[in-house]
Amino acid sequence: MAHQFILVLDFGGQYNQLIARRIRECGCYCEVHPYQKWKEAIEQHRPLGIVFTGGPNSVYADNAPQVGKELFELGIPVLGICYGAQIMAHALGGEVSHAPSKEYGKTETKFELSSPMFEGLDANMVTWMSHTDYISKLPEGFSVCASSENCPVVAMENREKKLYAVQFHPEVQHTQHGTEMLHNFLFRVCGCNGDWTMGDYAQTAIADIREKVGNGKVLLALSGGVDSSVLAALLSKAIGSQLTCVFVDHGLMRKNEGDEVEAAFSDWDLNFVRVNAEDRFLAKLAGVSDPETKRKIIGEEFIRVFEEEAKKIGAVDFLAQGTIYPDVIESGTGDAAVIKSHHNVGGLPDYVDFKEIVEPLRLLFKDEVRQLGMELGLADYLVWRQPFPGPGLAIRVIGDITKDKLDTLRDADFIFREEIAKAGLDRQIHQYFAVLTSMRSVGVMGDGRTYDYTLALRGVTTTDFMTADFARIPYDLLAKISNRIVNEVGNINRIVYDITTKPPSTIEWE
Ligand code: XMP
Repeated sequence: MAHQFILVLDFGGQYNQLIARRIRECGCYCEVHPYQKWKEAIEQHRPLGIVFTGGPNSVYADNAPQVGKELFELGIPVLGICYGAQIMAHALGGEVSHAPSKEYGKTETKFELSSPMFEGLDANMVTWMSHTDYISKLPEGFSVCASSENCPVVAMENREKKLYAVQFHPEVQHTQHGTEMLHNFLFRVCGCNGDWTMGDYAQTAIADIREKVGNGKVLLALSGGVDSSVLAALLSKAIGSQLTCVFVDHGLMRKNEGDEVEAAFSDWDLNFVRVNAEDRFLAKLAGVSDPETKRKIIGEEFIRVFEEEAKKIGAVDFLAQGTIYPDVIESGTGDAAVIKSHHNVGGLPDYVDFKEIVEPLRLLFKDEVRQLGMELGLADYLVWRQPFPGPGLAIRVIGDITKDKLDTLRDADFIFREEIAKAGLDRQIHQYFAVLTSMRSVGVMGDGRTYDYTLALRGVTTTDFMTADFARIPYDLLAKISNRIVNEVGNINRIVYDITTKPPSTIEWE
């Protein structure tokens, strides 16, 4: 089914995909296209509206990205954001100048609420600015609809022609009611009715995958994490048995995790290969206590196992990766490169030839990936999983690793997670786990002295995992968890709760 289409023209700004994501949030289908291809994109997609992203340039720079004036004559509503606003002003005969003082960050802004862009919002709102140039003279037919102390034209409009421009970034969270502004543009100006859902995204993604893959074979390294699980579900719907998922159980998973991952995919139409590689991983890790060395050994061994499996399957054309948008460093939507082997595939063998990489989640944000997972009918506990590091429990057993230590940690961690879930806190605390320190201390149990390990519990709240606060788990709950762990798990006689934020700590201990 064809959906109403919004075209986002990419001028190289850092928030391009965030703009696209906000538009999707409003229930409108959109695609980001390079600005150079604006004519083709308009012809092909007949958009109801066009959004210009920001960009790092000045309109007066040599080779500054521009669009022809004729774009504004097509009768299609346009919203220019930041650099996109300046392009509009410049193209239509206004003036853009170096601002006497730069504006960066949160800015008090006054709005003209009669503008369709700001209807129903507040007359004074904080916007997020990031610019050195500004619009110093309006193009003919335009009027100012927002201003700030340092910027006379924070927003301008030509209602008759449905042209709007904002100097700030409505797509970032720091702009108050930014999403509502975009909603206003889409619904009140462009006439969108919100006819798009994540279910539609799934359908489009499935059709795209089928077209790209044809009869080829696809290999996916499945970790059981949210992204690779959602990708497995999507690919399974798209290409069924042409897909092989290789799940390497390195013996560093949490309690029951290997079986759970396998069970979760048992009903799906895909080839599932579980490689039980505990012995070889533990053998390589024996006696190693340096965190970085542990990580390197695990990465390398993972490659070797995957390599062996890829060879067994043979003639695999495509490699699927659960890359999501925050993992994508470069901006824009440049043509996907044809890739042969590769290093950008975190830790995959060099010499396995893949015709191409398939990354259907690369434009989605984490919460959208979860939404998609639900749409595809993936089990709740897979969709809502907390992040789990690739090296697994190897970096949660501090110092050298043994199977006994791993088993102790697994049991303790299981109790911790079980109690947090029972208390209904499992979605409020974004990541929580136990760490087996290598420290031993004296305790007393029954009438005897013990000399056992200290276990640390860690729980954090965070939005992006770049910074984090420690979760305020109620003392009574901590008491219950502590009691259960020392009673039910051997070799632990002391439990501490980690009360550091990130920074200065990190979330994981190694
Ligand atoms: P840190 O410890 O750096 O962790 O504060 C931030 C987030 O990243 C996860 N993490 C990893 N994830 N491979 C992964 O896939 C890794 O090697 C790795 N190390 C840390 C960590 O669990 C937290 O969510």
